[in-house]
Amino acid sequence: MKKLTTLAATAVIAGLGTIALADDHADPIKMRQETMKSIGGAMKVLSDMSKGNTDFDAAAANAALDTMTQAAETIPTVFETEAVDPESDASDDIWANWDDFVTKAEALHTAAMGAEVTDEASVGAAMGAVGEACAACHKPYKL
Ligand code: HEC
Repeated sequence: MKKLTTLAATAVIAGLGTIALADDHADPIKMRQETMKSIGGAMKVLSDMSKGNTDFDAAAANAALDTMTQAAETIPTVFETEAVDPESDASDDIWANWDDFVTKAEALHTAAMGAEVTDEASVGAAMGAVGEACAACHKPYKL
């Protein structure tokens, strides 16, 4: 049994897993990839805005940060099932270092929750804060 961390336990209790766990029998790899895709989509909103590809919109930027915050909370749940597959870029080091992986998910959660976009300059700052958390996990755990 893997140790349930506070974050995972909270996510389960709060029912936040419903985003990704709507179907309990869903393919675990698909589930975690969908979670990452939604995080990636939210990141794209920020990056398009910071590059000037889209107009500055504080509400849309903060909504993207909310999406990331919620998705980050489900990371321990959607990754809990150890499953390696040629279609997946998840390293099996995740399950050998589960507590560290969860810590890195919590770091994204903290960064996304703590970031707030108030003006154009803060879009880049928010991106930087969450971007560090993506890299800190992808480097060791994404193939
Ligand atoms: C706690 C670890 C962790 C954090 C934090 C994390 N990722 Fe990931 N991400 C992964 C792993 C592992 C995979 C590979 C999943 C798979 O293929 O099964 C992945 C895959 C992805 C993918 C590819 C999804 C697909 O299959 O199409 C995208 C896009 C992505 N991450 C974006 C992000 C962004 C953007 C952030 C930060 C805002 C982020 N991730 C933060 C672990 C993490």
